[in-house]
Amino acid sequence: MTLTPTIRPRRLRATPAMRRLTTETRLHPAELVLPMFVREGIGEPLPISSMPGVQQHTIDSLRRAAAEAAEAGVGGVMLFGVPEIRDAHGTAADDPDGILNVAARAVAEEIGDALVVQTDLCLDEFTDHGHCGVLDLAGRVDNDATLERYRSMALAQAEAGSQLLGLSGMMDGQVAAVRDALDGAGFHDTAILGYSAKYASAFYGPFREAVDSQLEGDRSTYQQDPANRREGVREAELDVLEGADIVMVKPAMSYLDVLADVAAVSPVPVWAYQVSGEAAMIEAAAAHGWIDRRRVIEESVTGIKRAGADAVLSYFATEIAGWIR
Ligand code: PBG
Repeated sequence: MTLTPTIRPRRLRATPAMRRLTTETRLHPAELVLPMFVREGIGEPLPISSMPGVQQHTIDSLRRAAAEAAEAGVGGVMLFGVPEIRDAHGTAADDPDGILNVAARAVAEEIGDALVVQTDLCLDEFTDHGHCGVLDLAGRVDNDATLERYRSMALAQAEAGSQLLGLSGMMDGQVAAVRDALDGAGFHDTAILGYSAKYASAFYGPFREAVDSQLEGDRSTYQQDPANRREGVREAELDVLEGADIVMVKPAMSYLDVLADVAAVSPVPVWAYQVSGEAAMIEAAAAHGWIDRRRVIEESVTGIKRAGADAVLSYFATEIAGWIR
């Protein structure tokens, strides 16, 4: 005999109105951050072949795209600079006239009140070897010498008007070093986003094209082993102790367990980064007609939020914000 169910979860799925009222996770434009690239020395924005719809901006087109994001209600923009000249120490990174600092100044002036202007604080775009730090004589990434460079970059970015510094280099002690430098110069209100649990991921592939990366080899001596879960929580806890205002897990989709772990214990907001390779996979499959692009984008970002992200960095931020409205 067939037992008639008395408990019927389908009741809450029966109508759009009922589903709307009982949904646990909702996307909101204010919880999206748009990563953007700006390139020195170009007259027109350039497409990035592995990132359809994403561009290397000129300062002018960056201003316009940032204003468009603000208009759509996006919560913030994260700026990455692509300099014309690179060297061993990443000199352009802390030069007030370096492309990223110029861009931060321009965007802060354009829309600094409407959304949070953020800058990537890392040396990889600026070094001729493509690593996130400076190298020692043996060619290894020198942690403590790199912290000195980060301190200097932090001051240049804060000076330029960046409101939230994204520390993505995975050097030990980077949050404490940058906090100390900022406070020492009176930048008490400049906030720190720690890319706390950042994994040595192949999903950053398209980003390398976006920033014209010079990297040979990989970042396994400083970014985390994709196999490690417990370590992600430890890295986030250390960043909180060092003064991070927000912590992040990156990439997002393949690290939702780490994200959930960090969200369960973090006393500060937890963000996640839907990285270039995640976006590229969606675009490629959608271009083949294999998936419904819009639904997959919404589902992927909803999943990241459901796993525990308070906000999400996504190349689709402005587009999603437009759909929500
Ligand atoms: C380092 C940095 C990277 C990304 C953001 N910041 C590259 C890396 O660590 O190799 C990747 C972002 C993406 O793939 O979308 N400055």
